[in-house]
Amino acid sequence: MMTSGDIRQKFVAYFQKQGHAVVPSSSLLPDDPSVLLTTAGMQQFKKYYTGEADAMKDFSSKSTASIQKCFRTSDIDEVGDETHLTFFEMVGNFSFGGYFKEPAIRYAFEFITQEIGLTIKYVTIFEGSHGVPKDEASATVWKQLGVSDIREEGIGDVFWGPTGTEGPCGPSTEIYCTNTNGQDVEIWNIVFNEYYCSGSREELIEQKEGVTLKPLETPGIDTGMGLERLCMIAQDAKNLFETDLFTPLIALLPESLDVRIKRIIADHGRATAMLIADGVRPSNKGAGYILRRLMRRAMVYEHQHALSPEIMKQVLATVIANYSAHYPELTSEESVIMQVFQAEYDKFTKTLQRGVRELEKVAFLDAASSFKLYESFGLPYEIIKEMGGTRADDLTREDFEEEFRKHQEISRQGQEKKFGGHGLILDTGELKAGTEEELAIVTRLHTATHLLQQALRETLGNEIHQMGSDITAERLRFDFNFDRKMTDEEITKVEKRVNEWSMMHLPMQYQEMPLEEAKTTGALYFFKEKYPETVKVYFAGQSLESAVSKEFCGGPHVDNTARVGIFHIVKEESCGAGVRRIRATVE
Ligand code: SER
Repeated sequence: MMTSGDIRQKFVAYFQKQGHAVVPSSSLLPDDPSVLLTTAGMQQFKKYYTGEADAMKDFSSKSTASIQKCFRTSDIDEVGDETHLTFFEMVGNFSFGGYFKEPAIRYAFEFITQEIGLTIKYVTIFEGSHGVPKDEASATVWKQLGVSDIREEGIGDVFWGPTGTEGPCGPSTEIYCTNTNGQDVEIWNIVFNEYYCSGSREELIEQKEGVTLKPLETPGIDTGMGLERLCMIAQDAKNLFETDLFTPLIALLPESLDVRIKRIIADHGRATAMLIADGVRPSNKGAGYILRRLMRRAMVYEHQHALSPEIMKQVLATVIANYSAHYPELTSEESVIMQVFQAEYDKFTKTLQRGVRELEKVAFLDAASSFKLYESFGLPYEIIKEMGGTRADDLTREDFEEEFRKHQEISRQGQEKKFGGHGLILDTGELKAGTEEELAIVTRLHTATHLLQQALRETLGNEIHQMGSDITAERLRFDFNFDRKMTDEEITKVEKRVNEWSMMHLPMQYQEMPLEEAKTTGALYFFKEKYPETVKVYFAGQSLESAVSKEFCGGPHVDNTARVGIFHIVKEESCGAGVRRIRATVE
């Protein structure tokens, strides 16, 4: 069987032979402020496409190859099935003004069919749109190589980038192989970086006004192949978790444990070790929050299933042992990884233990008493359900969440009573805060409100606009024109969108300008409202042009969308004819 080690070696040797400089993986914490964590191999090379840096000078070659540590936050909740991971390794070759389509495709073909010995099922090419022509050249090369199943796809599938708010991008061609279950799996994405896009990927696809594609200073090649998927195909494994990258981790877990949980622990363990080694520490925001979430999820399972507390440490130790030859930082940070994990474990265990002690005192665990345990002791629903045994037989997640909503409502009313009196340090009409602490929260909720409005427009249509907004330290409340209940999918999509923007670390800034000029920026405003001659346009993004959200607004806002935290829609309800109301929180 071809091991993951063999594949790594073959890849490096093959591309070295073709004149590529082999470059070590960069950190999972990128220099690039437009992304939270490294998501692709090309990220460390962005500046060689834009002309800001010179590959000849830095690598003595116009082409490089790397095996890059990557992390995709968008997939966290999907982990547990057969195909999703948070951390993964991206194998890729790059050219900056060196070779272009023909060699790039030929290298990939040779590597897959000859070096690894796989059969290509089919390839895809760009069908042409958005002012970019159909990729006839790639089709010709594939035909010459004897690949006859060539499928045309659109901008959503075979056009890559940009990452973050702007950057290099271009059409791509993808290689598909069939796995042992008979499913076609995308193996390799070969991107022809030809353009610099002035906006985000979504803006490009939607053809947002002002978003342009300009020819790149140094066009080139950016290819990416997930090592885990390649191993799955090369090793005839049924899924990613049955490859040699995961079997040593899965083997540490009790056989009887649910397969989904085993995969989550294996994935999160790998990601935890890698993130800590790159300097991430658990916290309540940004990358630190991601790490905390991964660790605590694994810990909840550990408690739920009474696993030995040593298991997670064994998983970490095995990750370190198996990967340290490729990522030496794992060795130098070994004790730090263990310490950080232990400290978080102790902290979370205390929370859980205190909660569980209280739980033992409760005779009957209905929604109300369970919610109280959550509220006072931070005990998650899953733990209450599990540890409660027969006392929690009647407890359902729906009732628990309903209790949560009721609670929000009560605290909102309390808040309104409180705010009816005096002593507010901030009262803009829309935003109200009684203390510095509350001020900090309402400011985050205010930025979240802007992002929410934009996400609603993207999801439900551009005719959506704000009809009312009210923000207290407990929640935001946003009214908008829409004539039916939102579906669960729409609500999830909106939440996800807002959280993506917050994870993109977009600067939140404003420009002051004359009213008439401000109206031409595309910023949202109330048509009926009388504005002063000069207004502030608040926007989330590197520039007003590339911003994901812009609105006439007096502030205050956080300085970066990352500070919004995790955004959560608590309730969506009717509030009059053709008007819907959303309540949402940030944590
Ligand atoms: N950047 C492209 C991707 O991430 C190819 O490497 O798929």
